[in-house]
Amino acid sequence: MAMTQDELKQQVGQRAVDFIEDGMVVGLGTGSTVKYMVDALGKRVAEEGIHVIGVPTSDRTREQAKSLNIPVKDVDDVDHIDLTIDGADEISDDFQGIKGGGAAHLWEKIVATNSTKNMWIVDESKLSHKLGSFPLPLEVIPYGSSQVLKKLAAKGYNPTMRMRDGKHVLTDSQNYVIDLHLNEIDHPHELAAELIQMVGVVEQGLFLDLVNTVIVGRPDGPEVLK
Ligand code: 5RP
Repeated sequence: MAMTQDELKQQVGQRAVDFIEDGMVVGLGTGSTVKYMVDALGKRVAEEGIHVIGVPTSDRTREQAKSLNIPVKDVDDVDHIDLTIDGADEISDDFQGIKGGGAAHLWEKIVATNSTKNMWIVDESKLSHKLGSFPLPLEVIPYGSSQVLKKLAAKGYNPTMRMRDGKHVLTDSQNYVIDLHLNEIDHPHELAAELIQMVGVVEQGLFLDLVNTVIVGRPDGPEVLK
């Protein structure tokens, strides 16, 4: 029987913890795939007694890790991070990615850029030849965010303010999220540089030249790409 997307996420979440060694400081990403990874890590901590420090990239992940007795520290309280394991919304052939579907890309990028190694875990639906089919998230400060939205619209980037139940979606830093519906991103580095220069934009969701390993959930088992 065909595996569901959720089963593929579970498969890669479980496979990823094989890369975690005793004594490591591990960046813990955010999202439904990472949730399976944190569950599997909690199991290793409980059953094998491995010692790790988790550095969570969201309040959600921090609460989950704590509930599983995985010791956690904030990114400012560690002197290094050995490996960060995170999900992604879209990954191109050359391992560039879009993140932020869960509104956590600012903290995720802070942890990722302070990590010696970075791994993404995804089901195969996240792979694409060229980035852009997933809307590109921007974290923006609330003050002036409507003006930022207008400027993005004028540039032709088809922005929408992310709302839920008539209210702004808030990040863990209490910021708003604007999604750019681009369809195709021809020059991700140039776009990233342009967006991050806009006043009011705190972080954008292109994760470029950051990742070393991707584990892809396939119906016949997880595939490790390096
Ligand atoms: C959160 C993220 C997530 O990693 C991304 O949205 C993937 O999530 P999921 O595993 O639920 O598909 O970037 O901001």
